[in-house]
Amino acid sequence: MSNRMWGGRFAEGPDAIMEEINASIGFDKKLYAQDIRGSKAHAKMLAEQGIIGADDAAAIDRGLDTILSEIESGAFVFKRSLEDIHMNIEARLAELIGPSAGRLHTARSRNDQVAVDIRLWVRDTLDQLDTQFEELMEALATRALDHAATVMPGFTHLQSAQPVTFGHHLLAYVEMFARDRSRFADARARLNECPLGAAALAGTSFPIARETTAALLGFDRPTANSLDSVADRDFALEALAAASIAAVHLSRFAEEIVIWTSAQFGFVKLSDKFTTGSSIMPQKRNPDAAELVRAKTGRISGSFNALLMVMKGLPLTYQKDMQEDKEQIFDALESLSLSLAAMTGMVRDLTPNEARMKKAAGSGFATATDLADWCVRTLGIPFREAHHVTGRIVAIAAERDITLDKVPLADLQAVHAGITEDVYSVLSVAKSVASRTSYGGTAPKNVRAQAKRWIARLAKE
Ligand code: ARG
Repeated sequence: MSNRMWGGRFAEGPDAIMEEINASIGFDKKLYAQDIRGSKAHAKMLAEQGIIGADDAAAIDRGLDTILSEIESGAFVFKRSLEDIHMNIEARLAELIGPSAGRLHTARSRNDQVAVDIRLWVRDTLDQLDTQFEELMEALATRALDHAATVMPGFTHLQSAQPVTFGHHLLAYVEMFARDRSRFADARARLNECPLGAAALAGTSFPIARETTAALLGFDRPTANSLDSVADRDFALEALAAASIAAVHLSRFAEEIVIWTSAQFGFVKLSDKFTTGSSIMPQKRNPDAAELVRAKTGRISGSFNALLMVMKGLPLTYQKDMQEDKEQIFDALESLSLSLAAMTGMVRDLTPNEARMKKAAGSGFATATDLADWCVRTLGIPFREAHHVTGRIVAIAAERDITLDKVPLADLQAVHAGITEDVYSVLSVAKSVASRTSYGGTAPKNVRAQAKRWIARLAKE
């Protein structure tokens, strides 16, 4: 049987393989709500412009409402022979309301229809992601305020560098996620133009009002060029690029959680709700959620790259290749959403082991820089010389396997005669972090102020 949408030109129906490679209903059914929203706006505009009758428009509107509830209740029968969500809905509309259904596609093509549907889906999802970012940032800032003075080792090269606070570390991620959010907000602003009315590619001879459909669908304005309207997917690429960067941030944090929860570090404990056990090793508490967040980064950035390659070299305008945009968009943004939810859950519930972190903060001669800074301030020697003096003291401590604050004064004075008892006042990890009061530094009072600023800012949104 030839296709009922374009059967006029065809004597035979498609080969089974043609149907299999061509059909997108298996994944684009996800666009049903956006497709119905777009169709309702289009029908309303057509009636307002006198292009279709008010009766036809009313029948179309009611029919689309029925279809929406059929899909949501699970009663709707999707047919692969109808290829995609657009034709499945239109065919059902014809069953429900008869010939009026055929008027809906006036001055429209599936090319502008799918372009509007996928923009709406991406926009809806970006709005949801924005709320999720906000929740994660709020969770992090709240924990940061509780732990503004909880000392932990700060690392470079994963070697002990200088003591920092746990709150400061968490707020570093708040900054990253704030930038991610603003990247998504930029993408949303550029995305928010309505392609509906571009029709197949050239526009239409019907007196449509593109401003009307744009406004009805919450877009800022109609897109300006009909060819670009049906050919462009860079709004999706931009969203997936932002998603890839955000996923990389999440994966770095996830990796830290994996490291921190190991027996060797023991810095934090995840709650039972976000941990799994082992079927053979009874002692195990595995950070599976963190590992999976780390893994999702591969899928998300893979989707970005896949879509980038689908779009590469496509001549204007719509090409069927572009049907392949959807699985990448859905998978990437849904994976990001799940990762954000999992990360928020972990952050809200985790318990830091303050004693372990403090002890670790003091190992590895982490206050050596404080000792060097003391020498500069008190002995008036250049930093490079102070660095050398401190290096010799660290070598003594390392050789005796003791921390810097346990090196006797006489030994310190043997390295530099000017060193006095006062030096011990900067060698504790608590003193070290308290002294880092420069803007953006790790001093607990800075961290407390920053955490409060974030909490207040997020509460205002
Ligand atoms: N299912 C198609 C897609 O997702 C809809 C647009 C089809 N347009 C066309 N000219 N065949 O891209």
